[in-house]
Amino acid sequence: MPDLIDGRKIAASHLAKTAEHIGELRRRGITPGLAVVLIGEDPASLAYVRSKDKTCRELGMHSRKVELPTSTTQEDVLRLITELNADPAIHGILVQSPPPAHIDEQAVVRTIDPRKDVDGFHPVNVAALAMDDPDALAPCTPLGCIELLKASGIPVSGAHVVVVGRSLIVGKPLALLLLRKGTDATVTVTHSRTRDLASVTRSADIVVAAIGRPKFLGAEHVRDGAVVIDVGINRVDDPSAPRGYRLVGDVDFDAVAPRCRAITPVPGGVGPMTIAMLMHNTVLACRRLTATP
Ligand code: GUN
Repeated sequence: MPDLIDGRKIAASHLAKTAEHIGELRRRGITPGLAVVLIGEDPASLAYVRSKDKTCRELGMHSRKVELPTSTTQEDVLRLITELNADPAIHGILVQSPPPAHIDEQAVVRTIDPRKDVDGFHPVNVAALAMDDPDALAPCTPLGCIELLKASGIPVSGAHVVVVGRSLIVGKPLALLLLRKGTDATVTVTHSRTRDLASVTRSADIVVAAIGRPKFLGAEHVRDGAVVIDVGINRVDDPSAPRGYRLVGDVDFDAVAPRCRAITPVPGGVGPMTIAMLMHNTVLACRRLTATP
């Protein structure tokens, strides 16, 4: 059987380091602050936002959680962002994606001060990442995938990594991070129109699944000895589960795992790393905004 990549354990060690950095900042009179904004009532988004708020508090950060009704107007959201941009107690701003359909997400992202854009979604940070600027604030889930590989001792330099999915949140920024000098992967990005996907993913040393479709990748997509990182967190109905649903990844774990050298579980793989990287980015943004080394 493959090695299970324990995202909870790796995230805990990152969080412990971040907590130390927060302690140092607080001793100098600075408390890093994160604002997390949710528009609407999507249950999965609500759970993520509450978990981000809780982790912030546990680490000794200031957290401002803003839960807005679905009826909130675009104007109201932009006004709130402008207020948070000007708030000296807030160093990071995150608006949970996806917002309701009537909200222009791009306009919201562009309104966030790029220095407080701990999601790394603002065009200034996207460009900085593409230009290999080491100061770019990079998106949390892709950062988490890279840290999982590093912590597990999986060689990335020169490896062929096939990313399945081209989203702005995961696929595209992950490809840029993997390509950076010092990481040095050979990267192929695939998507729903890729011809003969299985033959492409079978050529990978590392497959990253980030398409948002439950159990989409099966045994036929992975060669023996590959490493599989499953970014998917999908709720599927399960009347026998306490909440009536169960979380499954984009990978059919039972079919794929026997072939792998290492694989991430869902839950307990990439998910905890996303939050750990968000905390890391918030401390980084705080240091820069307050010019505290
Ligand atoms: N929705 C799913 N993942 C993310 C994320 O990393 N950041 C934000 N803002 N929304 C998300």
